[in-house]
Amino acid sequence: MNEYRLAYDESIAHPDIFWGRVADSFTWKQRWSKVRSGDYHQVNYTWFDEAKLNITENCLDRHLLALGEQTAYIWEPNDPKEAVRHISYNDLHNMVCRLANGLSAMGVKKGDRVCIYMPMVPELAVSLLACARIGAIHSVVFGGFSAQAIADRVNDADCHWMITADGVYRGDKKLVLKSIVDEALERCPGVRNVVVLNHRNFDITMYPKRDIWWHDVIEHQSETHDAVAMDAEDPLFILYTSGSTGKPKGVLHTTAGYMVYAGYTFANVFQHQHDDIYWCTADIGWITGHSYMVYGPLLCGATSVLFEGVPSYPDWGRLWDVVDKHRVTIFYTAPTAIRALEAQGLEHFKGKSLSSLRVLGSVGEPINEEAWNWYHENVGHQRCPIVDTWWQTETGGILIAPLAGITPTKPSFATLPLPGVIPVLVDAQGNELLEKNAEGNLCIKQSWPGQARSVYGDHDRFISTYFATYKGLYFTGDGCRRDDDGYYRITGRVDDVINVSGHRIGTAEVENAIDEHENVYECAVVGIPHAIKGQCLFAFVACHHQPQNMTALSKEIHKLVSEKIGSFARPDYLCAVSGLPKTRSGKIMRRIIRKIAEGEPDKIGDITTLLNPEVVEEIKIKVAEVIKAPVS
Ligand code: WTA
Repeated sequence: MNEYRLAYDESIAHPDIFWGRVADSFTWKQRWSKVRSGDYHQVNYTWFDEAKLNITENCLDRHLLALGEQTAYIWEPNDPKEAVRHISYNDLHNMVCRLANGLSAMGVKKGDRVCIYMPMVPELAVSLLACARIGAIHSVVFGGFSAQAIADRVNDADCHWMITADGVYRGDKKLVLKSIVDEALERCPGVRNVVVLNHRNFDITMYPKRDIWWHDVIEHQSETHDAVAMDAEDPLFILYTSGSTGKPKGVLHTTAGYMVYAGYTFANVFQHQHDDIYWCTADIGWITGHSYMVYGPLLCGATSVLFEGVPSYPDWGRLWDVVDKHRVTIFYTAPTAIRALEAQGLEHFKGKSLSSLRVLGSVGEPINEEAWNWYHENVGHQRCPIVDTWWQTETGGILIAPLAGITPTKPSFATLPLPGVIPVLVDAQGNELLEKNAEGNLCIKQSWPGQARSVYGDHDRFISTYFATYKGLYFTGDGCRRDDDGYYRITGRVDDVINVSGHRIGTAEVENAIDEHENVYECAVVGIPHAIKGQCLFAFVACHHQPQNMTALSKEIHKLVSEKIGSFARPDYLCAVSGLPKTRSGKIMRRIIRKIAEGEPDKIGDITTLLNPEVVEEIKIKVAEVIKAPVS
């Protein structure tokens, strides 16, 4: 712990020396002239100016001499009866080089955007790395998004290329990804070619001029490739995430700072050792998968399990089987999965040893004390430290977390900031709360290397979303408590973002989808607590005609949300009302409907200043009925 304190103090007092030393452990084609430049207030901060590098040389080439035959990925298929694949660093290097050569031959160049929509197979990691190898910017879209959501993201980033697969089984569900892509691309005239991996031999349509099989792209391609020299601040990837307003933002990360931060945090938070078998259950389609399934572990020469399946298939003991089968030592998952397993009782642990586990991690949403204790006791057998890691798509890597086995933990606390990170709590007026014991909105005071640089194509939006609320501070959108020990506990979003099973969902996006229904003239979506998902969506709709059949309406609304976003964003509750409570200026009072939906109608406060206070009584009655017998 003393070492942590010293490192932290140095990182704040002398950030250039601290991060320069961390960066020295990586391979550079040309060294930087300055560690940090630019101005936080002007939102033009940069890291490692004038350095040249390729992140994939750091993930792959530099390990080959010592670790070439070591496994980089253990691929565990959806069906436990199917064969496991072991992919060594040599194999991965060859696969990446061949695809990089193949993409180059197709005309993909440095700076081009490539959209990736794939199942959890090693070729997904290969796709990201092959793009990075040639300097193309990858934009991964999670495999649960709909055709419309893909199209929006492809068009926003102006992607000319896509990489996908025929499809996948997740649990017993068959997903034909290629046909979703086909539908999406009807709206994307800019896409020239689609590379298609034949993963499951599904019957799909290949459009002759546009679609090319993965195996044809890499055929005859060399197993070596001269990695393109990237400038430190050249974009590495775009990843879309939901905010409180409008369409999703393409969060932009650049090369050198992201690399240094992903590698440093992976090594330190998990205290990764060379003989560890690391397993992060996150999909590569989210930031956790980018930083802690692909870049972080590969930068450290780690061996990772890449799991195609789901925790409940073929039964709820599946995760523990995988832990035992591969002797997993570090296990990193989301509170939602923990609570879902907890709800199944203890039967699924029968016959499972879990003795290989050394460190447990949690990410994506606040972990409640009960789930933390359950995890600690039943999975960690009270022996494994839990690292509750707080961070965001925009932060590139973990900002607040214990260091495994070093920082004393406390259930439901993400504990202390990592070196280089200065968290501050502010009140609604933007005053910094200086006392230790405080609660407020969480901001970060100074740039760290992994920080997002922009929103793709819209730097003004980046500034207005993150740097305009509180002057000179990056605003996270999260509420947070700090205790007498200086430990941080994240309490959840304070904006209109709802965290459902660790998926960030913007209420505005869901409302836009529901508004498309011909009978709906107005709607509002709020988040309410949910025992397993953390939060779920509660939708209120005001209709032109009183709906006769709520089950039918609910189905239609689910269909719309699934089409516009993806089925993970469907509301759990639907309530039809004659109107929504509004201020005199016409703004919907979400606070009021949220309180009612949360089952606290007595806490809505004064409603006399509303434009239409009469609707509140009706909403209370309708919500009580819906909660008793939800239609969705
Ligand atoms: C929430 C996921 C509490 C938080 C890495 C944040 C957490 C949002 C934690 C970012 C945690 C993430 N404790 N809340 N350990 N980790 N969050 O961009 O609200 O998908 O703002 O990144 O998840 O979600 P994102």
